[in-house]
Amino acid sequence: MRLGSKWFFFLICLLVLFVLLQTLFLFVWKMSFGFSSFLALCFALPFAFLYVRFALLGRIRILTHRTRESAAGLFATQSQVFPDDEWGELSRAVSDLYGQLKKEMDKVSGENEYCRAILAGMAEGVLLLNERGRTLMANDTAQKLLGISEKIRDKTTLEIIRDVQLEQAVQDILGGGAAKTFELSLPAFSKGFEETVFEVNVAPISPSKGESAARRVNGAIVVFHDISRLKDLERIRKDFVANVSHELRTPLTSIKGYTETLLDGAWKEEVALQFIQVIERHTDRLIKIVEDLLTLSKIESQGFRLRMEDIGVLEWIDNALNEVRERAAKKNISLPVSGVSPSLHAKGDRDYLEQVLLNLLDNAIKYTEEAGKIEISAIEKKDSGEILFQVRDNGIGIPREDLSRIFERFYRVDKGRSKEMGGTGLGLSIVKHIVMAHGGRVWAESQPGKGSTFYFTLRQTPNSQYKT
Ligand SMILES: Nc1ncnc2c1ncn2[C@@H]1O[C@H](COP(=O)(O)OP(=O)(O)O)[C@@H](O)[C@H]1O
Ligand SMILES: [Mg+2]
Repeated sequence: MRLGSKWFFFLICLLVLFVLLQTLFLFVWKMSFGFSSFLALCFALPFAFLYVRFALLGRIRILTHRTRESAAGLFATQSQVFPDDEWGELSRAVSDLYGQLKKEMDKVSGENEYCRAILAGMAEGVLLLNERGRTLMANDTAQKLLGISEKIRDKTTLEIIRDVQLEQAVQDILGGGAAKTFELSLPAFSKGFEETVFEVNVAPISPSKGESAARRVNGAIVVFHDISRLKDLERIRKDFVANVSHELRTPLTSIKGYTETLLDGAWKEEVALQFIQVIERHTDRLIKIVEDLLTLSKIESQGFRLRMEDIGVLEWIDNALNEVRERAAKKNISLPVSGVSPSLHAKGDRDYLEQVLLNLLDNAIKYTEEAGKIEISAIEKKDSGEILFQVRDNGIGIPREDLSRIFERFYRVDKGRSKEMGGTGLGLSIVKHIVMAHGGRVWAESQPGKGSTFYFTLRQTPNSQYKT
């Protein structure tokens, strides 16, 4: 309250009291004019002061105090009791006003919280720019995806992301252009990819209804959708189709060539039998590729289920060895089994697990020279409830740079050699998928020229040591 108005109230009170008292003293108690004036002033002064101080200013102070409280966001919700006069009325009106104000403020801050929660929970990165293209805010995902810090306020996209295409798109939008979507590749900030590919959507923030029509945009919103994984899958699919086509085309071309030669009359000659044998070999190869592809697609299909059963590990290894024994004997390769307890049991699908061992043994025999040694062992890992299997050979080995890729489809260290041996390049990929479907892991270690060891794990059947 201003000083002037306080004095104004004081003077009014003083005047009224003075006139009343002087009238009383002059006409009722018949005092002299001077004495009655002096006495009236003596009484009126403290009364007027006390009235203004406590009765009037007190209420105004309460109002002032409550106004300040509400401005500081501390508005007390409990209603206060005011007298039934004009001041009370005014206080109630102010009180109601603040009640409304508080409701509105709660509503706005609630909506703000929603927006904040939505932005924080979004999988997409969001950047909000003002009408000059300067950053107002970036959500957590944007900061993570773009590798930017929180100190981005008031910076342009060019300063933050350093991409001319994006900056141009933002300027177009701020100049009144329509929303735009484009792809953007940036150095990767997330693990596993060399670069991050984004689908970026830049859209204008239109002025709200009340704002002047002269302003066409209030700013821009930039949404970053990370499509690196999708792109990667697309690349893998394209590579796969290209690889399959290539793998199928080679034997088909040979078959076609030899068939045409035979049809041209070669069937009458001595070489005919040789040609037919070549055709048969290529047909077998085609069948093997198609079979392997079907196995892979079956394991990867949605409804794929393993028929889990209890498998005696030693018996399972023996069965697989019986299948390859003859081929190993031809190369004079020994097949010792070590450290496998007869009581050891694993949980798995017998048919698929047999394929795992057969593929690993097949490779080991193929890539081991004459008189080599392929050793199989199975170690019980009591702490993790796993069995660790090893297929170790002393063959040609695998170069370090190829080791991480040999489980990929159609990946072969030496293409010619693999094909010569009837390989499809899909064996290890099948091994990996079967082991993973069983919840296990598979990996390899190798020293070129000295040999390779393939490892895989399977879950042990509980209490397998008690079974025979
Ligand atoms: N025991 C091994 N010793 C050396 N190289 C191996 C061995 N096992 C696999 N490889 C390499 O890994 C590649 C992929 O194996 P795989 O998927 O079984 O295909 P394939 O046997 O049909 O060639 C092989 O071409 C070979 O180069
Ligand atoms: Mg193989």
